[in-house]
Amino acid sequence: MSRNDRFLRACRLEPVDATPVWFMRQAGRYLPGYRRLREKYDVLTICKTPELCAEATILPVEQLGVDAAIIFADIMLPVEAMGISFRIEESLGPVIQNPVSSMADVESLRIVEPQRDLRFLLDGIRLVKERLNGKVPLIGFAGAPFTLASYIIEGRPSRDFVKTKSLMYKDSETWHELMEKLAHMVSVYLRAQIEAGVEAVQLFDSWVGCLSPQDYEEYALPYSKQIFRDLSSTNVPTIHFGTQTTTLLELMKEAGGDVIGVDWRIPIDEAWKRVGDGVGIQGNLDPAALLGSFELTKTKAEDVLRRVSGRAGHIFNLGHGVLPNTPVENVSRLVNLVHEYKLRG
Ligand code: CP3
Repeated sequence: MSRNDRFLRACRLEPVDATPVWFMRQAGRYLPGYRRLREKYDVLTICKTPELCAEATILPVEQLGVDAAIIFADIMLPVEAMGISFRIEESLGPVIQNPVSSMADVESLRIVEPQRDLRFLLDGIRLVKERLNGKVPLIGFAGAPFTLASYIIEGRPSRDFVKTKSLMYKDSETWHELMEKLAHMVSVYLRAQIEAGVEAVQLFDSWVGCLSPQDYEEYALPYSKQIFRDLSSTNVPTIHFGTQTTTLLELMKEAGGDVIGVDWRIPIDEAWKRVGDGVGIQGNLDPAALLGSFELTKTKAEDVLRRVSGRAGHIFNLGHGVLPNTPVENVSRLVNLVHEYKLRG
């Protein structure tokens, strides 16, 4: 049992002594210790070496005092195990050597066996757990089928997702086959992380906001829903995250997740109204609000806290990852501000 269990209590909608806070990309380039690691190793080497993975994962816990650690990995790692080679391009993201465009490509994707193919990650999880020694809970994660499919089809980060949508509309049989394979892989992958010791999991559907609600319902929702259904017997809390999802929130709740992640494009109280009772909310400060003076960060963070006013199930986070140029001092002061904010009642 973790000593600091605020984060897990909030996931279960239980009252907390202070609002839990952690950040997506909390182990990133804004952090001096991480930059030092990166002088010697590339991102994928860090991911694939349990010792380095553990070091990167634990850095922000020790430096910032966040209430949860997230395993240092990348959403593309299990996709690589399916037979898709990729590299990470600085300031861009994953670039795929062999994008998928046909049924034959989808049929050639391999079935992932995490114990065999992603041993490094499971060993990394075990090492982190040992080192954290219960200090804070460890979050595991995976990309959601839609977001993974968008990388696999586009071959690189995209703005308009034209290739992805073309395949979806023109060859829906191939689309659904791909999504089914990805959903199965993600379920198996997250279950393996849970067996290795993660205490919560987050499904990143980072780019799903490019879909209309109707298309989300038809082309993405069934697959994310399958994953949450597969995980329900584990009793491990689940977080369902996306960006630009203002019009999708009700449907994302229907797909599943004990906590719904929201970006900054909707006030947090309004987002919570949309998803209704019975789920928690994580987010929603604009990462850019940490780029200037702390006064601005403070004003915007207090607005978020005021809007939820201590309602059980709130996890403070940014609406997306910490930006590389963020002053680390703003991040650590933000952690303190969230912890010291007086909760009602
Ligand atoms: O601290 C953490 O949040 C854990 C580590 C983490 C990484 N990737 C390490 C990483 C997590 C949770 C991810 C998930 C991930 N990877 C997502 C979903 C989250 C999101 O941001 O929406 C996505 C879309 C990816 C794909 C990816 N990998 C991108 C877009 C990038 C950034 C490219 C850049 O240079 O800005 C990467 C590389 C990457 N993965 C970095 C980190 C810390 C930064 C690159 C670096 O260190 O040079």
